[in-house]
Amino acid sequence: MKIFLDTAIRDEIRRMAALGIVDGVTTNPTLLKAADAPYHEVIADICKMVPGPISAEVLAEDWEGMVREGRELSAIAPNVIVKIPMTPDGMRAVSVLKSAEIDTNVTLVFSANQALLAAKAGARFVSPFVGRLDDAGHDGMDVVEEILEVYANYDFTTEVLVASVRHPQHVVQAALMGADVATVPTGVLALMFCHPLTDVGIQRFLDDWKAVRKE
Ligand code: E4P
Repeated sequence: MKIFLDTAIRDEIRRMAALGIVDGVTTNPTLLKAADAPYHEVIADICKMVPGPISAEVLAEDWEGMVREGRELSAIAPNVIVKIPMTPDGMRAVSVLKSAEIDTNVTLVFSANQALLAAKAGARFVSPFVGRLDDAGHDGMDVVEEILEVYANYDFTTEVLVASVRHPQHVVQAALMGADVATVPTGVLALMFCHPLTDVGIQRFLDDWKAVRKE
């Protein structure tokens, strides 16, 4: 499973990308607000730091505007993926951008039906928001399971990108289900490294080695 970083904070991306575990980055308008620099400049910088897919979202609500913004975003770098919201206009924009060979990520997906429509429109990625579904009293990972089954039934090539990840267990579940990608906030990625037995084990090895050197 690919791991994307879900942030627009460039220092965080630089630090995590250096560890060799980041396959791509997702951003959205809320995350870009925290980056505190002009939108296109931030996306251009991220595209240089991480060679994989970098999602950048359109702000227009009509399909012509989405296509126009999508073309502008895609001109920033070859690895930009245009993020389009799950609406009828959004799906029209996805199919127009696909015919121009511009890859898209359909965002704000909360059901298998929405994911089916995104795949039919020709999206490269579909982003079910598991954390927001959990917050609303559903089980977000159940929706991911349904989407994976629907896509497998019909051999859709759209990749399932698990988004709105809140904790490491979401990532484990995504990997067990065979999702293509999980996009993970920096704090969750940091937690994925942690296990108390690893810390105890390192300390014991160091203590034992110090004792050996004293003998
Ligand atoms: C990524 O593509 C999504 O925009 C992001 O994961 C949403 O996360 P949130 O629900 O924590 O805002």
